[in-house]
Amino acid sequence: MSPVKLLDDIYWVGAIDWNVRNFHGFSYTTHRGTTYNSYLIVDEKIALVDSVYANFKDEMIRRIREIVEPDKIDYIIANHVEPDHSGSIADILKLAPNAKVVGTARCQKGLFKHYFGDWDFQIVKTGDTINLGKRTLTFLEAPMLHWPDSMFTYIQKDALLLPNDAFGQHLATSKRFDDEVDEKILMEEATKYYANILWPLSSLVVKKIEQVQKQDIKINMIAPSHGIIWRSNPMKIIESYLRWAKGEAEKRVLIVYDTMWGNTDKMARAIAEGISSMNVEAKIYRIPHSDRSDIMADLLEAKGILIGSSTINNDILPTVAPILEELKGLKPHGKIAAAFGSYGWAGGAVKTIEETFNKVGMKISSPAITINYVPTEEEIQKCYNFGKEFAKNIIAS
Ligand code: FEO
Repeated sequence: MSPVKLLDDIYWVGAIDWNVRNFHGFSYTTHRGTTYNSYLIVDEKIALVDSVYANFKDEMIRRIREIVEPDKIDYIIANHVEPDHSGSIADILKLAPNAKVVGTARCQKGLFKHYFGDWDFQIVKTGDTINLGKRTLTFLEAPMLHWPDSMFTYIQKDALLLPNDAFGQHLATSKRFDDEVDEKILMEEATKYYANILWPLSSLVVKKIEQVQKQDIKINMIAPSHGIIWRSNPMKIIESYLRWAKGEAEKRVLIVYDTMWGNTDKMARAIAEGISSMNVEAKIYRIPHSDRSDIMADLLEAKGILIGSSTINNDILPTVAPILEELKGLKPHGKIAAAFGSYGWAGGAVKTIEETFNKVGMKISSPAITINYVPTEEEIQKCYNFGKEFAKNIIAS
């Protein structure tokens, strides 16, 4: 696949990782692969914005060579230290020995520690610019979106924002633009990306978007460092980010649980029927059969969650622990929550679940429902009513 022209003299020269199925170690499943987007700006001076994961350096270099010889590159803009974007900088520098690396002070520190580099480096701050000829690059620091070193690059002439990880999606495709792919799939991956990477940083997301809006920066195109480029309607993803960051969600419920002998499963189904009876959608996920990253993506758009576990050794089933850990990390505050589960001789599971809800800042709608061993018909009815009451809280929220 050849380089793809975004605009006059601006090209995508990145790489497509069709086969990656886990990201950030095994913390994020990437069922649809990803891309590492790198952009080449050919002006009187030539700039490469971000590079690709080291395994894909040859693919990127081949694409650059279709446009210019790499030794003509004057600047390598490093918007972010993480290796999926910086992994090929050292290799590019071997081919472009006169190129200067540009990034924030924290970026310099991070890159040098990652690559033991001693590169010619220009530190930039918010508002700093580099003139390439017809175009000027303007830099906007974006600390903790999502690393301390993160930075956006903006080109006023083209109203083009290059925000690195922000507004990205893990989606491998030979298409490069939003109007060329299935919108449903695109938004599924953008949602999953926000939920699993940016959710805990939501207050910073709102501040950064408001900062950009206050400065009246015109944006016609957003070219992130993963997935497709937003050119037909860049406001769609900005508005989605604001909605997610402000905790706006649909009035529906996830029921996430695991069960030892099927009794917590019976409770989950009865609770779901109670919720559905109030015309509120309830979706059930049994944890070992469900993907954790997908559950978090679904939760981003859902107002409520019930978590259930049988009790073992006075605590939750070990299979439930990763979900609670995700909640602690992603901090989906503002969600309406409740716990449930069966127990034998002593409980404990729902206590651990509720402790997590409190720690995260989720609103417990009512004390947990617990059932000893096998639920009777009467107890199943109690679970059904519990679901109905939960749904009422969702409707009233
Ligand atoms: Fe896509 Fe933070 O790296």
